[in-house]
Amino acid sequence: AAPAAVIVAIDGPSGTGKSSTSKSVAAQLGLSYLDTGAQYRAITWWMVSNGIDVTDPSAIAAAAGKPEIVSGTDPSAPTITVDGTDVAGPIRTQEVTSKVSAVSAVPEVRTRITELQRSIAKSAQRGIVVEGRDIGTTVLPDADLKIFLTASPEARAARRSGELKGVDVAATREALIKRDAADSGRKTSPLAKADDAVEVDTTELTLKQVIECVVTLIEEKRAAK
Ligand code: DC
Repeated sequence: AAPAAVIVAIDGPSGTGKSSTSKSVAAQLGLSYLDTGAQYRAITWWMVSNGIDVTDPSAIAAAAGKPEIVSGTDPSAPTITVDGTDVAGPIRTQEVTSKVSAVSAVPEVRTRITELQRSIAKSAQRGIVVEGRDIGTTVLPDADLKIFLTASPEARAARRSGELKGVDVAATREALIKRDAADSGRKTSPLAKADDAVEVDTTELTLKQVIECVVTLIEEKRAAK
């Protein structure tokens, strides 16, 4: 018989290898994949493109329902569109990165994106790996498996500056610490480890080791289902 659908939540701060791990694990196990950070980036991109003042929470709240955000959940080719436009590139700019914490702190934005995430997870036939900051705590509290990835700030900054070529490690480290502090300190569903999440410190691990660890945890859950 086909294995039962399995819902996996992977949370943690930036630079812990969440995206690379989640995509690879989903591809290996034939599951769907959802990058929830990309959704928050997409709504931020739309706000910036439409001249919404991102320092004004009431302006963000009023516009939160306007853009139509669609995520493609194939882990080997994930996609993200806003009102039909492919925004995979533009959501990774410094401008969007520096504004996404302010936009994603607004409760109306979170309600809207959380609903979207739940409906995507529900419709994933074989199961899904959902990565973000509040998946295990708020979006999918009944997930079959919750993972919380951590790493030292140095390791996280080194990984991120490796991704963004030509950017200096010290500056990346500062920006990353600032964004994590904002994401952890906000009122509505902050970045947090769920009580029942398995914490994996990736500082001393290779990506391959982290992937193997998560795949093993999922297979154990599936066997027990
Ligand atoms: O994973 P990322 O760096 O692409 O996420 C971008 C931002 O989106 C992050 O700084 C906080 C926000 N985010 C969030 O608030 N909740 C999530 N589930 C995922 C991301």
